[in-house]
Amino acid sequence: MRVLSGIQPTGRLHWGNYFGAIRQYIAMQTNEQAFYFIADLHALTTLHDPDKLRQHRIDAALDMLALGLDPNRATLFVQSDVPEITELTWLLMTVTQMALLEKCHAYKDKIANKLPADAGLFTYPVLMAADILLYDSQVVPVGSDQIQHVEVARDIAQRFNHRYQGDFLVLPEASVLNDAGKIPGTNGDKMSKSYNNTIELFEEEKPLRKKIMSLKTDSAPVEAVKDPDQCSIFTLYKLFATPEQQAALAARYRAGGMGYGEAKQQLFEAANAHFAPARERRRELAADPATLQNILRDGANRARAVGQKVLARCKVACGLSAK
Ligand code: ADP
Ligand code: TRP
Repeated sequence: MRVLSGIQPTGRLHWGNYFGAIRQYIAMQTNEQAFYFIADLHALTTLHDPDKLRQHRIDAALDMLALGLDPNRATLFVQSDVPEITELTWLLMTVTQMALLEKCHAYKDKIANKLPADAGLFTYPVLMAADILLYDSQVVPVGSDQIQHVEVARDIAQRFNHRYQGDFLVLPEASVLNDAGKIPGTNGDKMSKSYNNTIELFEEEKPLRKKIMSLKTDSAPVEAVKDPDQCSIFTLYKLFATPEQQAALAARYRAGGMGYGEAKQQLFEAANAHFAPARERRRELAADPATLQNILRDGANRARAVGQKVLARCKVACGLSAK
Protein backbone atom coordinates (compact mmCIF):
# COMPACT_ATOMS: atom_id res chain seq x y z
CA MET A 1 0.00 0.00 0.00
CA ARG A 2 1.39 3.39 -1.00
CA VAL A 3 1.24 6.05 1.71
CA LEU A 4 2.25 9.56 0.64
CA SER A 5 2.39 12.98 2.19
CA GLY A 6 4.13 16.30 1.61
CA ILE A 7 5.51 18.93 3.94
CA GLN A 8 5.95 22.53 2.87
CA PRO A 9 9.43 23.87 3.63
CA THR A 10 8.27 27.23 4.94
CA GLY A 11 10.07 27.45 8.30
CA ARG A 12 11.30 25.55 11.31
CA LEU A 13 9.01 22.86 12.69
CA HIS A 14 7.29 23.40 16.02
CA TRP A 15 5.75 21.09 18.62
CA GLY A 16 2.33 21.35 16.95
CA ASN A 17 3.74 20.11 13.62
CA TYR A 18 5.50 17.24 15.33
CA PHE A 19 2.73 15.92 17.57
CA GLY A 20 -0.02 16.82 15.08
CA ALA A 21 1.63 15.44 11.94
CA ILE A 22 5.28 14.41 11.62
CA ARG A 23 5.23 11.87 14.42
CA GLN A 24 2.34 10.10 12.70
CA TYR A 25 4.04 10.13 9.29
CA ILE A 26 7.08 8.50 10.80
CA ALA A 27 4.96 5.86 12.52
CA MET A 28 3.58 4.89 9.09
CA GLN A 29 6.96 4.12 7.52
CA THR A 30 6.34 0.39 7.86
CA ASN A 31 7.78 -0.44 4.44
CA GLU A 32 9.35 1.20 1.44
CA GLN A 33 5.90 2.07 0.13
CA ALA A 34 5.79 5.20 2.29
CA PHE A 35 6.71 8.31 0.26
CA TYR A 36 7.34 11.65 1.97
CA PHE A 37 8.42 14.71 0.10
CA ILE A 38 9.40 18.30 0.68
CA ALA A 39 6.89 20.38 -1.25
CA ASP A 40 9.18 23.11 -2.55
CA LEU A 41 7.09 23.85 -5.66
CA HIS A 42 4.14 24.52 -3.36
CA ALA A 43 6.27 26.77 -1.14
CA LEU A 44 6.87 29.07 -4.15
CA THR A 45 3.26 30.24 -3.83
CA THR A 46 4.11 31.93 -0.52
CA LEU A 47 7.89 32.02 -0.06
CA HIS A 48 9.70 34.42 -2.38
CA ASP A 49 13.18 34.56 -0.88
CA PRO A 50 15.44 32.16 -2.83
CA ASP A 51 18.08 31.79 -0.11
CA LYS A 52 15.43 31.07 2.48
CA LEU A 53 13.81 28.46 0.25
CA ARG A 54 17.17 26.74 -0.31
CA GLN A 55 17.79 26.71 3.45
CA HIS A 56 14.27 25.56 4.38
CA ARG A 57 14.46 22.63 1.96
CA ILE A 58 17.59 21.38 3.69
CA ASP A 59 16.18 22.07 7.14
CA ALA A 60 13.00 20.16 6.41
CA ALA A 61 14.96 17.11 5.25
CA LEU A 62 17.29 17.24 8.26
CA ASP A 63 14.33 17.61 10.61
CA MET A 64 12.51 14.60 9.20
CA LEU A 65 15.61 12.41 9.32
CA ALA A 66 16.58 13.53 12.82
CA LEU A 67 13.08 12.75 14.04
CA GLY A 68 13.33 9.16 12.90
CA LEU A 69 12.41 9.00 9.23
CA ASP A 70 14.47 6.06 8.04
CA PRO A 71 15.49 6.30 4.37
CA ASN A 72 15.72 2.52 4.21
CA ARG A 73 12.11 2.10 5.24
CA ALA A 74 10.55 5.16 3.60
CA THR A 75 11.35 7.26 0.55
CA LEU A 76 12.23 10.89 1.25
CA PHE A 77 12.62 13.28 -1.67
CA VAL A 78 12.30 16.86 -2.82
CA GLN A 79 9.25 17.56 -5.01
CA SER A 80 11.12 19.55 -7.66
CA ASP A 81 13.63 16.70 -8.13
CA VAL A 82 10.80 14.82 -9.87
CA PRO A 83 10.11 16.85 -13.02
CA GLU A 84 7.36 14.40 -14.04
CA ILE A 85 5.20 16.23 -11.48
CA THR A 86 4.80 19.35 -13.59
CA GLU A 87 4.10 17.34 -16.72
CA LEU A 88 1.33 15.39 -15.02
CA THR A 89 0.00 18.65 -13.55
CA TRP A 90 -0.68 19.93 -17.06
CA LEU A 91 -2.51 16.76 -18.11
CA LEU A 92 -4.64 17.02 -14.98
CA MET A 93 -5.27 20.72 -15.53
CA THR A 94 -7.12 19.84 -18.74
CA VAL A 95 -9.66 17.69 -16.87
CA THR A 96 -10.11 20.10 -13.92
CA GLN A 97 -13.15 22.34 -13.89
CA MET A 98 -12.71 25.97 -12.83
CA ALA A 99 -15.66 25.59 -10.47
CA LEU A 100 -13.86 22.85 -8.56
CA LEU A 101 -10.89 25.12 -7.88
CA GLU A 102 -13.06 28.14 -7.09
CA LYS A 103 -14.46 26.16 -4.14
CA CYS A 104 -11.04 25.54 -2.56
CA HIS A 105 -10.40 27.29 0.76
CA ALA A 106 -6.88 28.61 0.22
CA TYR A 107 -8.00 30.57 -2.82
CA LYS A 108 -11.42 31.54 -1.45
CA ASP A 109 -9.86 32.88 1.77
CA LYS A 110 -7.45 35.12 -0.13
CA ILE A 111 -10.19 36.52 -2.30
CA ALA A 112 -12.44 37.05 0.75
CA ASN A 113 -9.60 39.00 2.40
CA LYS A 114 -9.06 41.01 -0.79
CA LEU A 115 -5.50 39.73 -1.06
CA PRO A 116 -3.91 39.31 -4.49
CA ALA A 117 -4.09 35.72 -5.73
CA ASP A 118 -1.98 34.37 -8.57
CA ALA A 119 -2.61 31.42 -10.88
CA GLY A 120 -0.15 29.38 -8.81
CA LEU A 121 -2.33 29.67 -5.74
CA PHE A 122 -5.49 29.06 -7.75
CA THR A 123 -4.15 25.89 -9.37
CA TYR A 124 -2.27 24.66 -6.30
CA PRO A 125 -4.79 21.84 -5.73
CA VAL A 126 -4.00 20.48 -9.22
CA LEU A 127 -0.29 20.38 -8.41
CA MET A 128 -1.17 18.64 -5.17
CA ALA A 129 -3.34 16.16 -7.10
CA ALA A 130 -0.34 15.41 -9.34
CA ASP A 131 1.81 14.88 -6.21
CA ILE A 132 -0.62 12.26 -5.05
CA LEU A 133 -1.62 10.62 -8.35
CA LEU A 134 1.87 10.37 -9.87
CA TYR A 135 2.77 7.57 -7.46
CA ASP A 136 -0.51 5.62 -7.41
CA SER A 137 -0.93 6.74 -3.78
CA GLN A 138 -3.71 5.05 -1.88
CA VAL A 139 -3.50 6.66 1.55
CA VAL A 140 -2.68 10.32 2.14
CA PRO A 141 -2.20 11.27 5.79
CA VAL A 142 -3.00 14.97 6.23
CA GLY A 143 -4.26 17.46 8.81
CA SER A 144 -7.96 18.31 8.64
CA ASP A 145 -7.23 21.51 6.66
CA GLN A 146 -5.98 19.42 3.71
CA ILE A 147 -8.87 16.94 3.38
CA GLN A 148 -10.53 19.09 0.75
CA HIS A 149 -7.41 18.94 -1.42
CA VAL A 150 -7.27 15.15 -1.28
CA GLU A 151 -10.92 15.07 -2.34
CA VAL A 152 -10.06 17.33 -5.26
CA ALA A 153 -7.31 14.88 -6.25
CA ARG A 154 -9.81 12.05 -6.14
CA ASP A 155 -12.27 14.01 -8.25
CA ILE A 156 -9.58 14.87 -10.83
CA ALA A 157 -8.49 11.20 -11.03
CA GLN A 158 -12.08 10.15 -11.61
CA ARG A 159 -12.52 12.71 -14.38
CA PHE A 160 -9.31 11.62 -16.11
CA ASN A 161 -10.33 7.97 -15.92
CA HIS A 162 -13.78 8.79 -17.17
CA ARG A 163 -12.62 10.95 -20.05
CA TYR A 164 -10.16 8.37 -21.34
CA GLN A 165 -12.23 5.35 -20.35
CA GLY A 166 -9.91 3.30 -18.17
CA ASP A 167 -8.40 2.86 -14.71
CA PHE A 168 -5.33 4.98 -15.38
CA LEU A 169 -5.16 6.77 -12.05
CA VAL A 170 -5.65 5.30 -8.59
CA LEU A 171 -8.26 7.04 -6.42
CA PRO A 172 -6.62 8.20 -3.17
CA GLU A 173 -8.16 8.43 0.31
CA ALA A 174 -7.27 10.95 3.01
CA SER A 175 -6.29 9.54 6.37
CA VAL A 176 -6.96 12.33 8.80
CA LEU A 177 -4.30 12.84 11.40
CA ASN A 178 -5.32 12.87 14.99
CA ASP A 179 -4.79 16.55 15.72
CA ALA A 180 -8.11 16.94 17.56
CA GLY A 181 -6.26 17.94 20.70
CA LYS A 182 -4.72 21.08 19.24
CA ILE A 183 -1.35 21.75 20.81
CA PRO A 184 -1.43 25.13 22.59
CA GLY A 185 1.26 27.73 21.98
CA THR A 186 3.12 30.00 24.44
CA ASN A 187 0.10 32.31 24.79
CA GLY A 188 -2.45 29.51 25.20
CA ASP A 189 -3.93 29.76 21.66
CA LYS A 190 -3.34 27.01 19.07
CA MET A 191 0.39 26.81 18.35
CA SER A 192 1.00 28.18 14.86
CA LYS A 193 3.68 30.01 12.87
CA SER A 194 1.04 32.58 12.00
CA TYR A 195 0.38 33.40 15.68
CA ASN A 196 4.02 33.78 16.65
CA ASN A 197 3.54 31.53 19.66
CA THR A 198 5.54 28.47 18.68
CA ILE A 199 8.15 26.40 20.47
CA GLU A 200 10.51 25.00 17.87
CA LEU A 201 11.40 21.33 17.87
CA PHE A 202 15.13 21.78 17.71
CA GLU A 203 15.40 24.67 20.13
CA GLU A 204 18.65 24.37 22.08
CA GLU A 205 18.47 23.86 25.82
CA LYS A 206 18.85 27.48 26.92
CA PRO A 207 16.35 29.12 24.58
CA LEU A 208 14.00 26.18 25.20
CA ARG A 209 14.04 26.85 28.94
CA LYS A 210 13.47 30.56 28.33
CA LYS A 211 10.46 29.89 26.07
CA ILE A 212 8.92 27.48 28.54
CA MET A 213 9.45 29.86 31.45
CA SER A 214 7.60 32.54 29.47
CA LEU A 215 4.46 30.39 28.96
CA LYS A 216 1.39 32.41 29.82
CA THR A 217 -0.57 31.35 32.93
CA ASP A 218 -3.29 32.86 35.09
CA SER A 219 -2.21 34.83 38.16
CA ALA A 220 -3.24 32.31 40.85
CA PRO A 221 -0.85 32.53 43.85
CA VAL A 222 1.42 29.64 44.84
CA GLU A 223 -0.84 28.42 47.66
CA ALA A 224 -3.97 28.26 45.46
CA VAL A 225 -5.45 24.92 44.38
CA LYS A 226 -5.09 24.69 40.58
CA ASP A 227 -6.88 22.80 37.81
CA PRO A 228 -4.37 20.96 35.57
CA ASP A 229 -6.97 20.50 32.84
CA GLN A 230 -7.27 24.28 32.42
CA CYS A 231 -3.53 24.85 32.17
CA SER A 232 -1.55 24.72 28.94
CA ILE A 233 1.65 23.85 30.84
CA PHE A 234 -0.03 20.63 31.88
CA THR A 235 -1.46 20.02 28.39
CA LEU A 236 2.08 20.27 27.00
CA TYR A 237 3.55 18.16 29.81
CA LYS A 238 1.19 15.32 28.85
CA LEU A 239 2.91 15.09 25.46
CA PHE A 240 6.12 13.96 27.12
CA ALA A 241 5.18 12.29 30.42
CA THR A 242 4.12 8.74 31.30
CA PRO A 243 0.61 8.31 32.81
CA GLU A 244 2.20 7.98 36.26
CA GLN A 245 4.17 11.20 35.83
CA GLN A 246 1.03 12.96 34.62
CA ALA A 247 -0.95 11.75 37.65
CA ALA A 248 1.80 12.91 39.99
CA LEU A 249 1.93 16.42 38.55
CA ALA A 250 -1.88 16.65 38.41
CA ALA A 251 -2.02 15.77 42.13
CA ARG A 252 0.39 18.62 42.89
CA TYR A 253 -1.79 21.09 40.99
CA ARG A 254 -4.83 19.99 42.97
CA ALA A 255 -3.10 20.00 46.36
CA GLY A 256 -2.17 23.70 46.24
CA GLY A 257 1.26 24.96 47.30
CA MET A 258 2.82 24.56 43.85
CA GLY A 259 3.62 27.61 41.74
CA TYR A 260 3.47 27.53 37.94
CA GLY A 261 7.24 27.98 37.90
CA GLU A 262 7.65 24.47 39.24
CA ALA A 263 5.31 22.98 36.66
CA LYS A 264 7.26 24.81 33.96
CA GLN A 265 10.51 23.38 35.29
CA GLN A 266 9.08 19.85 35.04
CA LEU A 267 7.83 20.53 31.53
CA PHE A 268 11.25 21.83 30.54
CA GLU A 269 13.04 18.76 31.88
CA ALA A 270 10.65 16.35 30.18
CA ALA A 271 10.72 18.16 26.81
CA ASN A 272 14.46 18.65 26.88
CA ALA A 273 15.09 14.97 27.58
CA HIS A 274 12.59 13.98 24.88
CA PHE A 275 14.17 16.02 22.09
CA ALA A 276 17.84 15.83 23.10
CA PRO A 277 18.60 12.68 21.05
CA ALA A 278 16.94 14.14 17.93
CA ARG A 279 18.89 17.38 18.40
CA GLU A 280 22.10 15.40 18.55
CA ARG A 281 21.20 13.37 15.44
CA ARG A 282 20.35 16.58 13.63
CA ARG A 283 23.75 18.07 14.47
CA GLU A 284 25.47 14.98 13.08
CA LEU A 285 23.40 14.98 9.89
CA ALA A 286 23.91 18.70 9.35
CA ALA A 287 27.68 18.19 9.55
CA ASP A 288 27.54 15.67 6.70
CA PRO A 289 25.87 17.32 3.68
CA ALA A 290 27.09 14.61 1.26
CA THR A 291 25.08 11.94 3.06
CA LEU A 292 21.99 14.12 2.99
CA GLN A 293 22.42 14.74 -0.73
CA ASN A 294 22.74 10.98 -1.31
CA ILE A 295 19.59 10.23 0.65
CA LEU A 296 17.61 12.82 -1.31
CA ARG A 297 19.05 11.71 -4.65
CA ASP A 298 18.19 8.08 -3.90
CA GLY A 299 14.73 9.10 -2.80
CA ALA A 300 14.13 11.09 -6.00
CA ASN A 301 15.34 8.15 -8.12
CA ARG A 302 12.95 5.77 -6.40
CA ALA A 303 10.07 8.22 -6.71
CA ARG A 304 10.84 8.90 -10.39
CA ALA A 305 10.95 5.20 -11.21
CA VAL A 306 7.36 4.90 -9.99
CA GLY A 307 6.25 8.27 -11.39
CA GLN A 308 7.60 7.66 -14.89
CA LYS A 309 5.46 4.56 -15.25
CA VAL A 310 2.29 6.32 -14.18
CA LEU A 311 3.01 9.33 -16.40
CA ALA A 312 3.70 7.04 -19.38
CA ARG A 313 0.36 5.33 -18.78
CA CYS A 314 -1.41 8.70 -18.75
CA LYS A 315 0.35 9.89 -21.92
CA VAL A 316 -0.79 6.81 -23.79
CA ALA A 317 -4.30 7.27 -22.37
CA CYS A 318 -4.69 10.81 -23.71
CA GLY A 319 -2.85 10.32 -27.01
CA LEU A 320 0.45 12.06 -26.30
CA SER A 321 2.37 8.88 -26.97
CA ALA A 322 1.97 5.74 -29.02
CA LYS A 323 -0.01 2.79 -27.64
P1 ADP B 1 1.29 26.45 11.07
O1 ADP B 1 -0.11 26.62 11.65
O2 ADP B 1 2.35 26.68 12.08
O3 ADP B 1 1.48 27.23 9.78
P2 ADP B 1 1.03 24.19 9.32
O4 ADP B 1 -0.32 24.62 8.88
O5 ADP B 1 2.19 24.28 8.37
O6 ADP B 1 1.42 24.93 10.70
O7 ADP B 1 0.93 22.70 9.91
C1 ADP B 1 1.31 21.54 9.27
C2 ADP B 1 0.62 20.40 10.01
O8 ADP B 1 1.03 20.38 11.40
C3 ADP B 1 -0.91 20.57 10.05
O9 ADP B 1 -1.56 19.94 9.00
C4 ADP B 1 -1.29 19.92 11.37
O10 ADP B 1 -1.53 18.54 11.18
C5 ADP B 1 -0.08 20.06 12.24
N1 ADP B 1 -0.25 21.14 13.25
C6 ADP B 1 0.16 22.42 13.14
N2 ADP B 1 -0.11 23.12 14.28
C7 ADP B 1 -0.69 22.24 15.13
C8 ADP B 1 -1.19 22.35 16.48
N3 ADP B 1 -1.10 23.48 17.17
N4 ADP B 1 -1.74 21.25 17.04
C9 ADP B 1 -1.81 20.08 16.35
N5 ADP B 1 -1.35 19.91 15.08
C10 ADP B 1 -0.80 20.98 14.48
N1 TRP C 1 -0.55 21.19 0.72
C1 TRP C 1 0.04 20.50 1.85
C2 TRP C 1 0.18 21.46 3.04
O1 TRP C 1 0.14 22.66 2.85
C3 TRP C 1 1.38 19.93 1.48
C4 TRP C 1 1.26 18.99 0.33
C5 TRP C 1 1.61 19.23 -0.96
C6 TRP C 1 0.74 17.66 0.36
N2 TRP C 1 1.36 18.15 -1.74
C7 TRP C 1 0.82 17.17 -0.97
C8 TRP C 1 0.22 16.86 1.38
C9 TRP C 1 0.37 15.89 -1.29
C10 TRP C 1 -0.21 15.58 1.05
C11 TRP C 1 -0.15 15.10 -0.28
O2 TRP C 1 0.34 21.01 4.16
